[in-house]
Amino acid sequence: MTEPCRLVILISGSGSNLQAFIDAIARGELRAHIVAVISNKADVFGLQRAAQAAIPTEIIDHKQYESREAFDAELRTRVESYRPDLVVLAGFMRILTPVFLRPFIGRLINIHPSLLPKYPGLNTHQRALDAGDSEAGATVHFVTEELDGGPAIIQAGVPILAGDDVSAIVARVLTQEHRIYPLAAQWFAEGRVQLCDNHAELDGVPLPSTGFIFRDDRA
Ligand code: GRF
Repeated sequence: MTEPCRLVILISGSGSNLQAFIDAIARGELRAHIVAVISNKADVFGLQRAAQAAIPTEIIDHKQYESREAFDAELRTRVESYRPDLVVLAGFMRILTPVFLRPFIGRLINIHPSLLPKYPGLNTHQRALDAGDSEAGATVHFVTEELDGGPAIIQAGVPILAGDDVSAIVARVLTQEHRIYPLAAQWFAEGRVQLCDNHAELDGVPLPSTGFIFRDDRA
């Protein structure tokens, strides 16, 4: 039997998606080993979650570096030192340059809180509300040099209900994020999903630009 997939998870905040990975591994739904959690911020709750699960942590403070590229070079070196099979961005709030990205293309994934290609960038749920959308959601995608633009793997939508504010949508979407993100990683670990030129494939079949549409039977 092959070794569990080695994950390095990058965070900047609460780490609820990190927790979803920890829990999915504990339940046996994700055959992986989180070899390190790296944060660009000290004192974030995600670091406590990692410590609680006995996962090695590192803080690499971007403010200590004179340029984005210098930070990215250090981050790359630190991540590579853990020999990851897959690098997981889980609320990592830094724009990454090719200095970091290039060695990891095809084994670097992100979760973005919108139904991509709608609303790349920030304030996604507010933008969905402002536009009068009936649905919000999240998308797991391979990371490429285009911000929030890499090929999608899986996407989950939730309804926007009358009277919703952003915090209600955040909570509803996060529940789905916690299901689809470990699932996408499991597909990667099993060799089922891969990045091809400008799209992702699942079981050898090209995925649509939305990725696989996840339907939650528990919702
Ligand atoms: C999530 O909304 C995710 O979609 C976005 O950043 C947030 C991270 O939340 N990329 P958490 O730190 O995992 O709780």
